[in-house]
Amino acid sequence: MFNKPCKINLMNTLQFSKDSLQSQKLYSSKNPPLFFVMMRFNNKIAMVFLSCIVIFMIILYSICSRNSSYISQNSNILSGKTADLQGPEEIDCDINGEYIIGCRKEGEEVYVPFSFLHRYFEIYGKLATYDGLERFEWSHSYSRIYHPKAKYDPRGVYMYFENYNVEVRDRVKCVTASEGVPVSTQWESQGYYYPTQIAQFGLSHYSKNLTDPEPRRKIFDDGDREIAKWVVPTSATLDVILDTKLNTKITKFKTSENYNEAIQLKMDHVSDLVMTIDVKLNGNSSLTVVLQNRETKINYFLHYITTDVLIAVQDNNIYHGIGIISEWTKLTRDLIVDLQKGLNYASKDKSKHKIPKSKLKIISINLRGSGAVDNLTLSSSEHIQQFYDAAEWFVKHQDSETGGWSIPVKRKLASGFVVLEKGWLSAMGQGQAISVLARAYAHSGGDQKYLNTALNGLKPFRVQSSEGGVLATFLNKYHWYEEYPTKPPSFVLNGFIFSLLGLYDLASIAPVEFSEEAEFLYNQGMETLKNMLTLFDMGSVTCYDLRHFTLGIAPNLARWDYHATHVNQLLLLSTIEDEPLLKTTAERWIGYMNGKRADHN
Ligand SMILES: *[C@@H]1O[C@H](CO)[C@@H](O)[C@H](O)[C@H]1NC(C)=O
Ligand SMILES: *[C@@H]1O[C@H](CO)[C@@H](O)[C@H](O)[C@H]1NC(C)=O
Ligand SMILES: *[C@@H]1O[C@H](CO)[C@@H](O)[C@H](O)[C@H]1NC(C)=O
Repeated sequence: MFNKPCKINLMNTLQFSKDSLQSQKLYSSKNPPLFFVMMRFNNKIAMVFLSCIVIFMIILYSICSRNSSYISQNSNILSGKTADLQGPEEIDCDINGEYIIGCRKEGEEVYVPFSFLHRYFEIYGKLATYDGLERFEWSHSYSRIYHPKAKYDPRGVYMYFENYNVEVRDRVKCVTASEGVPVSTQWESQGYYYPTQIAQFGLSHYSKNLTDPEPRRKIFDDGDREIAKWVVPTSATLDVILDTKLNTKITKFKTSENYNEAIQLKMDHVSDLVMTIDVKLNGNSSLTVVLQNRETKINYFLHYITTDVLIAVQDNNIYHGIGIISEWTKLTRDLIVDLQKGLNYASKDKSKHKIPKSKLKIISINLRGSGAVDNLTLSSSEHIQQFYDAAEWFVKHQDSETGGWSIPVKRKLASGFVVLEKGWLSAMGQGQAISVLARAYAHSGGDQKYLNTALNGLKPFRVQSSEGGVLATFLNKYHWYEEYPTKPPSFVLNGFIFSLLGLYDLASIAPVEFSEEAEFLYNQGMETLKNMLTLFDMGSVTCYDLRHFTLGIAPNLARWDYHATHVNQLLLLSTIEDEPLLKTTAERWIGYMNGKRADHN
């Protein structure tokens, strides 16, 4: 009876002292009685607590002075091979008769340095301190498992992609201002559009739209209700006029040939740094956002200009080309991403140039040249806009004949495989694009262009990889969709399952009269998966592909994040497929992440 409440109070007290600012607010304003009760307990508990710590440290000291040896190889306490039976002694450890390392012996127990075990077994460990108590944490793997909370919904979050932030990855050169989608540098440094990456960008924003808090949004200029206080030099003009074609009021501007004289909107705007704006810029015109580092007072100029350049940088000027178009376009720009990509682009050392969002503010928006703007808005996020930018990219860039989004760079998966020449298709790219398009069709309330594009994207699933498609057949029997349509086939597991997910999404979302083909392909692939899944089980890890079978070489074991992807995919599939094998396999594979192994004979 006495013990339990006492324990709870002890915890509260601890929290109180640690987090005093927050707690004070809570207790003093809302709940004075509890606060005083705690104060009374405070002294007594502090005494008990202190004596506990003292006793604990004594115990800890005696444990640690014995154990620290296998953590720190250089521990001096243990030097000198005195025949003290209580303390550890140094001992040579002969590894497979190949080499010797230094270990410790204590009684009959031998302690091997963890730094050695780490390399030898590829296991992980670190010292960590909790509540003043240091301990060593050992882990067999490092990746995260996402247990689905509900049945997978093709209109819902895509896997766990709400946690993804595709555009900040180092291998993303920038998000182009002409298309609003990322450009990859993974396999070619000047940058190229990679359909899989674009799809993941779209799916992550779609998912974040469903999981993030509602965005804060402030409209600065929409021509109708809100007119910004633009500062117009005498040489320039700015008028709110009716765009008769769109039947909406817009802000039309023109500055002199002298580019120093910009029309300016001064502001002092922090934290919500995603800009959307409808713009129509004539040649040689620009829209510039001036960001300031609030600490250093250094200004950064994000210029959106009428060229095809992806990104260019000169000192603190970062240029993104919106293309050479004189039609209205909607720009959605995450200004932090644009700034960071610019700073990274100009420097080799990527970490040096990270400026936290909290240190930045917008001090002005400038217009030069001639054109018009409308709906200038700053928000905390614009996920749905960014999702649609991805969906539009797939509509615009599909090869209508093959239904493919071809990949414009060469790829050599591994020696032994024939090089994939520019223009290859990926089942994963097709599948994830279809997942984007199926969601766009549903979200837009049935916009036919998304459905048609998605349906057309199914074509390569029927075409053998040797003929430019993505289909490979295992032992003339099981039809597989290849992430990399190599010769010989590679059978990459995670890419295959991602493609199945796209097929499932479309089969579920398309109206029945259009869903047949996706359903057929999905069922065919699922049948293959059920029959081939355990080929990827290596008894303590999984393999990434089946190159050991098709090339007759060592297996290509999946590193833990790919292994975790396999598990996450199976857990997700087992919410939509009534097939125990998926779940039992996933559970066994989770066991591998905790060091379990398949039995041997
Ligand atoms: C998600 O999108 C809807 C429009 O479909 C929008 O109303 C909502 O504010 C968005 N929420 C977030 C968090 O992006
Ligand atoms: C842009 O500027 C260049 C150089 O000043 C000029 O030659 C070109 O005609 C201009 N283009 C337009 C569309 O105004
Ligand atoms: C600005 O937004 C309004 C409301 O969404 C829209 O009707 C109008 O067409 C937009 N302006 C432009 C130039 O696209």
